[in-house]
Parts: sequence; C-alpha cells; structure tokens
Amino acid sequence: MSKFITFEGVDGAGKSTHLAWFADTLRQRGVDVVVTREPGGTPLGEQLREMLLNQAMSIGTEAMLMFAARMEHIEQVIKPALRSGKWVISDRFSDASFAYQGGGRNMDWNRLKQLELWVHPDLQPDLTLFFDVPVEVARQRLANNVSLDRFEQEQSDFFERVRAGYHRRVQENPQRYAVIDAARTLEQVKQQLEKIIVSL
Ligand code: TYD
Repeated sequence: MSKFITFEGVDGAGKSTHLAWFADTLRQRGVDVVVTREPGGTPLGEQLREMLLNQAMSIGTEAMLMFAARMEHIEQVIKPALRSGKWVISDRFSDASFAYQGGGRNMDWNRLKQLELWVHPDLQPDLTLFFDVPVEVARQRLANNVSLDRFEQEQSDFFERVRAGYHRRVQENPQRYAVIDAARTLEQVKQQLEKIIVSL
C-alpha cells in the first residue's frame, strides 16, 4: 500500500539530512520511494520556488504561490505516484504554509485552511515527521551555511512563531504526527527513525 510521508521543521532542524537516510533505508527494504520537495517538485514549482526564496512579495502572494506550486505538485507528482503504489516522501508540505505564513508571518489561520481545503480537500499525509528543535540550536546549525535564502535570513522571533505554528498544527491533529526531538545527536535521531520505519 502506498504511503504519503512529509518531513517538517524549522530551517536548521536537520530534516533534509534525515530525509535522505530515511528514503535510502526504505529503498533497501524494497519500497519504491519517490522523494520530492516543496516549494518545488515540478518544473513550474521549481520556478515558483526560485521566486519565493529570493524575491520580496506580499504575504498573501507568498501564501498563494506556495499553494499554487503545491497544486501542480499534487496533480503531477504526488497523486500519480500514490496511484501507482509508490511511497511519496516530501520535504515539506502544507504544514509549512501554516507554520511559516501562518505562524511566522501572522497570516490568518482560517484563510490558510481555506486554501488547504481548495488545493487538497481529499489528501493529507499518512504521516508527518516533525523535527522539533529549540530555535537557538537551529540558528547555530544554519550559521554554517554560506548563503541563506529569504526565510533563513529572518530573525529568531520569526522562527519562534514558525515553531509555535507547527505545534499548533500538531495539536489540531496529533495522530498524524511523529514529533522527533531533533536537538539530539544524528545517531539518536536515526534510532527513533528506525523504529518508525519498522512500524510502517
Ligand atoms: P527548505 O525546505 O528549508 O530547503 P533548503 O533545505 O534547501 O533550504 O526551504 C524552503 C523554505 O520555504 C523554508 O524556509 C520554508 C519555506 N516554506 C514556506 O514558507 N511555506 C511553505 O508552504 C513551504 C513549503 C516552504
């Protein structure tokens, strides 16, 4: 049976590193895995990503472009893969819009829910791994990056609101999430992920 799994967390939580390992481990167990990301995942979506990560714009525009990229992604990549029995692992999905545009940028939560209902009324991840980490730890990890995009350049208070936005999403629908304590070492996190893989 196909599964749709998403990875979420503030920038610097380490989710991308773990995503690669998670996908490889599933493949070794014989699962046919499609790895993708948001914003992006399609040619049009990647063009939108380029704008979203580099160009200043109003909050409403930002939210709608995130969901526009998502609509393409769902129709062209996610749904076809799930229909053919593959597992889809996406580096971010709609939870990121609630966390970043809703939490970080204080956009109205219900308006985001309307967008979500429009763009994917019948699709939610089967499981979301939320890599949760104190903002100071995430900031320190990001400090090693040479270039930071428009979101990564935000200040700590922005990321505190993003993290709170994720927590709000988890509270609204706890059974969909596995909350990972991403402040621990890579090895400890991998052990937790291994258990999740076995349970899947
Ligand atoms: P990210 O996934 O962290 O990629 P990388 O690891 O290459 O930096 O970058 C995507 C950025 O886009 C991230 O800062 C969060 C932001 N974002 C939103 O603000 N809203 C969304 O709906 C999505 C999918 C991402």
